[in-house]
Amino acid sequence: MMEPVFVVTGASRGIGAATASLAADAGYRVVRASRSAEESVGDRGWDAKCDVSSWDSVQELMSRVESRWGRIDVVFANAGVSLDTSFVSEAGAKPSEWTEMVVTNVCGPAFTARAAMPALMRSGGHLVLTGSAAGRGVRPGNLYSATKWAITGLAQAIRAEAVGTGVRVTVVQPGLVDTEAIPASRAADPKLAPEDVGRAVLYAVSQPSTVDVNEILIRPTGQAAHR
Ligand SMILES: NC(=O)c1ccc[n+]([C@@H]2O[C@H](COP(=O)([O-])OP(=O)(O)OC[C@H]3O[C@@H](n4cnc5c(N)ncnc54)[C@H](OP(=O)(O)O)[C@@H]3O)[C@@H](O)[C@H]2O)c1
Repeated sequence: MMEPVFVVTGASRGIGAATASLAADAGYRVVRASRSAEESVGDRGWDAKCDVSSWDSVQELMSRVESRWGRIDVVFANAGVSLDTSFVSEAGAKPSEWTEMVVTNVCGPAFTARAAMPALMRSGGHLVLTGSAAGRGVRPGNLYSATKWAITGLAQAIRAEAVGTGVRVTVVQPGLVDTEAIPASRAADPKLAPEDVGRAVLYAVSQPSTVDVNEILIRPTGQAAHR
């Protein structure tokens, strides 16, 4: 059998890049998808251009991967963006800028799941979504947090519908991670390394097929409980 195939969205940097590298080390053929990718495909690695906010782009990606590499075993719906927002003041991004974040963070993983599920059902595969510790608690004025609450619900909705298909669904909920996405105001806070999250993803997907790891909440030691 050819090596299993692992697709990562948001793989050009940060958590996605670290997870793609660990998946390659674990023996997967890895598709690294992002908007900025320069298309290049070899026998074991594939840099693929994909914008998760576009249904057509995500559907085309999954179709290209399955037809060229024959199967899809793991899909890590990880691409996301973060903006500061306020509902009571002019602070943070303007409301006219909020749409892109909501579409990327909510429709992106939903489109990714919908496009990948037929291939995952054929392979008995695994869908992993990047949620956030911000998807479990209240963040004052924070629309980003609401998009990650949506991921908590999305994972549960997909898992409930996938019962009987053999597909497993995991949501990984990191606390603060040392990537370009974090705001300057949190630069001095305790942070996970992107690889710490990647190892959690690899843990979930390396369990026996009878074990469905539903949620992994992972915070840096010392992160304040409300962050
Ligand atoms: N850093 C944290 O503290 C933290 C904590 C909890 C959860 N998260 C979540 O973890 C995920 C990864 O974040 P990160 O911290 O690794 O951020 P990052 O370093 O900024 O990486 C974000 C990745 O997403 C890609 N991306 C953004 N919009 C995209 C789109 N429309 N289509 C395809 N790719 C897109 C980016 O590549 P291109 O720009 O090339 O497209 C990049 O590869 C996000 O879902 C984020 O919300 C982060």
